[in-house]
Parts: sequence; structure tokens; C-alpha cells
Amino acid sequence: KKAGLVLANFSGGQGKSGVEDGPKYMLRQGLRQDLQELGWTTSIEEPLASDDYEKRKETDTSDVWGIVKRPQLVGEATKQIYESAKKVLERGEMPVTIGGDHSVAIGSIAAVFEKHPDACVLWIDAHADINTPSTTDSGNLHGCPVSFLMGLDSENTPPSLQWVPKCVKPNKIAYIGLRDVDAGEKRILRENHIPAFSMYHVDRFGLNHVIEMALQAINPDGDCPIHLSYDVDAMDPLFVPATGTPVRGGLTLREGLFVAERVAETGKLVALDVVEVNPTLAVHDMHVLDTVSAGCAVARCALGETLL
Ligand code: ARG
Ligand code: MN
Ligand code: MN
Ligand code: MN
Repeated sequence: KKAGLVLANFSGGQGKSGVEDGPKYMLRQGLRQDLQELGWTTSIEEPLASDDYEKRKETDTSDVWGIVKRPQLVGEATKQIYESAKKVLERGEMPVTIGGDHSVAIGSIAAVFEKHPDACVLWIDAHADINTPSTTDSGNLHGCPVSFLMGLDSENTPPSLQWVPKCVKPNKIAYIGLRDVDAGEKRILRENHIPAFSMYHVDRFGLNHVIEMALQAINPDGDCPIHLSYDVDAMDPLFVPATGTPVRGGLTLREGLFVAERVAETGKLVALDVVEVNPTLAVHDMHVLDTVSAGCAVARCALGETLL
């Protein structure tokens, strides 16, 4: 059992600063030791260490592509994350990518599909993050990673993101936790028959059944490698207040951890992202602790903490 922690301290996929400090806070909370106590050998990759992406975010105002904000920065950062995740995979380790905003999943997922072309993605989030450069209202690329990985609207892909492999097929990604999906995104989900389970489905069928349905849709024989891309805003802001785009009415902390535990139980997890922890958006110190602890707990559960 070996994990490669990919520190994706990047905030350029959205406007707020602070989310780049997610990895630092999660490590300070003891994430690395926690995983080692679970029997994992851990290594650290710092793909973004050789450049000051935060500085560039503040200063380079010409980095736009139509409405899309900072495509050059996001293209470069995600490429670096991709290279690091590939190295981790080549060493036979599991990439655990710590965000950073959710655009960083472009890099981790691209690397996983290169190594495991038969992989599937479980995307746990309040948001679908499947806007294209044509549908996005905000212009924030953390709302678009899935569309690039699927090759949607590729005529309008900014040049800096054209390196991204079109690796994820519509029947190889499922969503759980959705409750704030843009109109254009709903159309994309519908037209491509992408399995998507909202909080309505969680209430209607219960989370356990929803997870079974999601896995059945993307991994019917149970033999595909699973990439778990976990946006902490899937959980309710009562439990995870320090995140950039909180939406009320989310998963409880236990439900949020149950998803990770259930994926661990499959034995098929090959990669994990934990993203959108933004410690600076907390009003009280307690909010920082709650949010960072929840992020660390997701990682521990996905890596088998509660399996007996
Ligand atoms: N749908 C909105 C947008 O495209 C919000 C996206 C939020 N994404 C996230 N990774 N938290 O701007
Ligand atoms: Mn900072
Ligand atoms: Mn989200
Ligand atoms: Mn997200």
C-alpha cells in the first residue's frame, strides 16, 4: 500500500484566494501520519513548486479566452499536476491529489486514464463541473474540468487546455450529491445520458442505494479501476463551511464519509482527489478545523480507515 500525495495548491480555477492553502492545512492536521498509521507508505509530489501561480493569478490580467478566466494558468498548472500524478502511478503508488480548486482534477484524471484506460470516475460534489467555454456563466474553470476530460465543445477549448486527453466517456462518470447545477449543465447531463444523482435521489432512495446505482452505471461488472474525485462542498456547509461555493442541503458528515468508505470497500480505488478546502473562508477557527478535519477524514476513509 503506497500513496503519492500530490500537493495541488492552486486557486486559479476560481476567483477566491485561500483554496491554495488546502494542502498545507490538511498536512498540518496530520494527514500524512494518519495514512501511514493506516499502513500506507507515503511520498510527496509538489508539481506547482517551481512557479508562483498565485502571483501570476494576481498580476496577469490578459489571461482570458472569451469569458473563460485564466486558461493559460490552469492549463499549465494542471499539466504539471498530470506529470506528477503520472510519476506516482509509474511508481505503483496511488495518487492522492489534495486541492486546490476542482480544476486540478483535470491533471489527476488525465494521468489515471493514461495508466488505466478502463477506469471510471465517481464525482462527489454539489456541482457538476461540466460547463464548457460556451455554457459557463462565471468563466471559472473549476466549473468546467469534466467537459475538457470528456472532449465536449472541443472547438472552443482554449489552446492551453488542448493537451487534455478526451478520456472520460459519458458512461464512465457518475455524480452524487448534486444540488446546484447550471441550466446548460443539466442539458449536457441529459443529452449525454450521464448518470447523475442529486440530493433529491439521496433522499428518495437513500445514499446506500444511490451509490449502488452509480457504481452499477459506470462499473457494471465491478472490475474497473475507480477514480474518486471528491469536492468537499458535497457535504453540507454545516460540516464543511470553509469552501468557495457552499450550497445548503448537502450530505451530512457521516453520509460524506460513507461514500468514501463504500468506495474503499470495493477494493477498486486507484486515485483520489480531495478539493475545495479553503481555510481562509472560515469566520471562526472552528470552521477551519471542521472543514480541514472533514477533508482529512474523506481521505482516511477512502484509504480504508473504517474497513475492519
Ligand atoms: N457551476 C458554477 C460555475 O460553473 C459553480 C462551479 C463550482 N465548482 C466547484 N468546483 N466548486 O461557476
Ligand atoms: Mn494564500
Ligand atoms: Mn462543488
Ligand atoms: Mn467541484
